Amino acid sequence: MAATSRLHKSAGTLEILDLRHFTSAELRPLLEEEARAWAKVLSWDYASSSEMILRYVDAKVLPGYAAVENGRLRGYSFFVYEQNKGVIGDLFASAVLNGRSGVVEERLLNHVIETLQQSPGIHRIEAQLLIHDSDVVAGPFLGAGFDRYRRLFMLWPLRGAGRPPLTIPPPAGIEIRRWSEQDFNATAAVITAAYQSHVDAAINDQYRTVGGSLRFLNNIIRFPGCGIFDGDSSFVAVTPTRQIVGAILCSRVRSDVGHVTQVCVTPEFRGKKIGAALLASAAAALRRHNFSAMSLTVTEANAGAVDLYERLGFTTRRVFDAFVWEG
Ligand SMILES: CC(C)(COP(=O)(O)OP(=O)(O)OC[C@H]1O[C@@H](n2cnc3c(N)ncnc32)[C@H](O)[C@@H]1OP(=O)(O)O)[C@@H](O)C(=O)NCCC(=O)NCCS
Repeated sequence: MAATSRLHKSAGTLEILDLRHFTSAELRPLLEEEARAWAKVLSWDYASSSEMILRYVDAKVLPGYAAVENGRLRGYSFFVYEQNKGVIGDLFASAVLNGRSGVVEERLLNHVIETLQQSPGIHRIEAQLLIHDSDVVAGPFLGAGFDRYRRLFMLWPLRGAGRPPLTIPPPAGIEIRRWSEQDFNATAAVITAAYQSHVDAAINDQYRTVGGSLRFLNNIIRFPGCGIFDGDSSFVAVTPTRQIVGAILCSRVRSDVGHVTQVCVTPEFRGKKIGAALLASAAAALRRHNFSAMSLTVTEANAGAVDLYERLGFTTRRVFDAFVWEG
């Protein structure tokens, strides 16, 4: 079906339509506006994510909804299926809608949630909507039986006041070295061990198994959804018997901003400053490559980690929500 006829038909009213009716050319202006919002709010260059979304839109394989008013796309939300889980990838409504963008986002979310909850075989839905302040989009989720977890977006300036120390030495016997492709499986095992009975395993069920942790790694290392993986600022902590007991993985989310997509240490090796040494190593590597800041997200209830980040020099720039539904 020609998307233009679809757009014409919806003129004058706000309609929620299947995203797969639209082309990348029709969605692009909205994504450009969204990219400006990500840049302003999160110091994040959304371009690589936008391009990936647009490719999937043209391939007509991205499930989701578009809000159309007066023939113009004013909002969209998409989701992906991962085995028995639906993950809400994004939600955005144009500022052109002024005071009505909240209503449009709510309508989009209601459609997405209803579709996923009624999809055969979907037993779990996860969503983390980083550019939405905590509470702002909570209504549809809480009304549909989701649990909510507050999360913090934190930033550490790499230049000027509050910048990180050049090194924090690891404890005796532990070597910090660059992450390599050969560490893929061992890193998945470290992630699985680190998140046993952890609040983040309630938010992201991939952490619960080695297979899930491998899929998580595959996503952050090989796909540009969460920035472009930066091997230069990714490290592992290794024992004298070559066992990997900690890891930090970073991605480039703007030409000069690094984002920690993962930092963890196995339970037996915690409290020995390995986490701090990994963060300092990543920060030093980013500084050497002229990055100006390092960011990360952390669950507010993960108080020990928040405390560590604050003591190092990170400050909270935003509070957003993660939502989880188990059918
Ligand atoms: C967060 C984490 C990487 C810190 O690693 P670490 O090697 O234990 O950290 P360090 O030894 O450098 O620093 C320890 C400090 O961090 C804080 N801390 C961090 N995590 C903690 C935890 N689980 N329990 C107690 N304190 C913790 C404490 O303030 C502690 O300070 P102290 O040594 O003066 O008591 C590690 O706890 C971990 O892997 N946790 C599970 C995964 C996780 O939460 N990752 C971060 C997601 S954003």
